[in-house]
Amino acid sequence: MAAKVVIGVDHGGLHIKNVIIEHLEQRGFEVKDVGVFSEESADYPDKAVDAVKEFRRGGYDFGVVCCGTGIGISISANKMKGITCAMPQNSFAAQMAREHNNVNFIAFGGRIDYTEPIEKILDSFIDAEFAGGRHLRRVKKMNNLEI
Ligand code: RB5
Repeated sequence: MAAKVVIGVDHGGLHIKNVIIEHLEQRGFEVKDVGVFSEESADYPDKAVDAVKEFRRGGYDFGVVCCGTGIGISISANKMKGITCAMPQNSFAAQMAREHNNVNFIAFGGRIDYTEPIEKILDSFIDAEFAGGRHLRRVKKMNNLEI
C-alpha cells in the first residue's frame, strides 16, 4: 500500500500545491488534496483544520500545509492537539525537522523565495528518519506542552 500524505492550502499556497503533489506522487506517495482548488480567497485556519481532520482519520505518513508565507497555516496546525508542524527555510531545516523534532506536518509559503527548489526541501524531509535517543526525550517534553 502506498504511503499517504494529506495536503491543504489557502489561496496564497495554491500555486505550489501542484508542484508538491506532483513531486510526492513521483516519490510514490498517495496524496489526499483537501483544497483549496481555486484562487478565491480562503482563510488559512480553515484549511489547516481540513488537513488535520483528514490526517486524524489515520494512515497518513505526514501532512503538508501551505499559505502565502507558511506562517499562518503552520501556527494554526500547531494549535491542534497531536500536531507538530515545521516551517523549514531550507533542506537542512527540513531534515532536522524529522531527525530531531519528529514533526508530523511541514509547511511552505507560496510567496516565499526559497534558495532551493521546494522539491529538494521536501526530499530532505521525506528521506530523513527520527534519530530518537536524546531527541526522543525532547520531543516528548515538547509534545507534553499541550497545556
Ligand atoms: C493571505 O493573504 C495570507 O495572509 C496567508 O496566505 C498567509 O500568508 C498567512 O500567514
